[in-house]
Amino acid sequence: MTSRKPTIGILTGGGDCPGLNAVIRAATKSAHRLGYNCIGFLRGYEGLAEPVGYMPLTPQNTGGILLQGGTILGSTNKGRFAALVGEGDRVRIDPELLTQAGETLRRLDVCGLICVGGDGSLAIAQQLHEHGIPVVGVPKTIDNDLGGTAFTFGFDSAVACATDALDRLHTTAASHERVMVLEVMGRHAGWIALHAGIAGGGDVILIPEIPWTFAGVCRAVERREAEGKRFTLVVVAEGSRLPDGGLVHDDVVADRRQVRLGGIAEIVAGEIARRLDREVRTVVLGHLQRGGSPTTFDRVLATQFGAHAVRLVHEGRFGEMVCYQPPQIGSVPITAAIRALSTVDPRGSAVAAARALGIAFGDEADDVSPFAGADRR
Ligand code: F6P
Repeated sequence: MTSRKPTIGILTGGGDCPGLNAVIRAATKSAHRLGYNCIGFLRGYEGLAEPVGYMPLTPQNTGGILLQGGTILGSTNKGRFAALVGEGDRVRIDPELLTQAGETLRRLDVCGLICVGGDGSLAIAQQLHEHGIPVVGVPKTIDNDLGGTAFTFGFDSAVACATDALDRLHTTAASHERVMVLEVMGRHAGWIALHAGIAGGGDVILIPEIPWTFAGVCRAVERREAEGKRFTLVVVAEGSRLPDGGLVHDDVVADRRQVRLGGIAEIVAGEIARRLDREVRTVVLGHLQRGGSPTTFDRVLATQFGAHAVRLVHEGRFGEMVCYQPPQIGSVPITAAIRALSTVDPRGSAVAAARALGIAFGDEADDVSPFAGADRR
């Protein structure tokens, strides 16, 4: 009788992003080299509760997927594991589902489950862990808003997409002397808007972490015009709050835990046009930021994450999530990623550099010299 090799399971949960396939490939290759079999559960956590919800993963069938966007395993940010039961602090995944998931993994001889996801999917991973299921986490999201890691994979690719959009908008805005407003994703964090705004030569960057006013935005447009620049590029994060504190989103559906953000660019553009009588156009980049091939940075990060996740399983370090704390890849408890979201520091070096260049954030600090109060040496 031949003994079966131990098996490592992998799943991808939540919204997709470039680099997921790079993680799957790296985990599969490194697991096989250590003597494990690999299987991939389909459609995120759904695959754990379905009898045929998985596929074998081999170095052969994961070959060539490094540069493919999306995930060969499929994903969902809804589904049964996301639908919680109970109230207040006692909100949990249906215990029946947790039991089913445990049985599926036992039946398939899975000795470790690698859960690749953002905050929602990692919160599910944490509950599986608390239920005694051997999980490790891998942080994924274009939003870069997870705690415990300096970067998530997917972020750099989304920034590259938004930067490319700004590069293109630049020439047409300049030719027609228009104000262009580009809306980017990022949920309640302004990372994509800030990094793309800096990389793409944005003139005004509006992010959730820095309260701004329409008057501040208009002042920035006028200041540029006074300097002879007859076009302005505004980058606005979808989760930026309007000056009255409101978020712009679609109608809240009762069973959805998160509102779908979007639409702020139209409001900002309308207000600039009304106040300054200028021609203003909008672009909402949307899911283009989530599609396509990962950048080289994301390929390298995702590959290291996949290999390190297998190492965590091999060493029995369950309940941990791989992380990037430059220059090292390491690990932290999954709870470190989901307890507090990572947001832009308004006093951080990236915002300071942007302000030093004259990039506006639509607040009062735009009118102050970046060197006011600084020592002269
Ligand atoms: O979390 C990633 C993200 O792309 C956010 O930036 C965005 O708000 C959200 O997902 C969109 O989700 P969906 O694809 O479900 O509309």
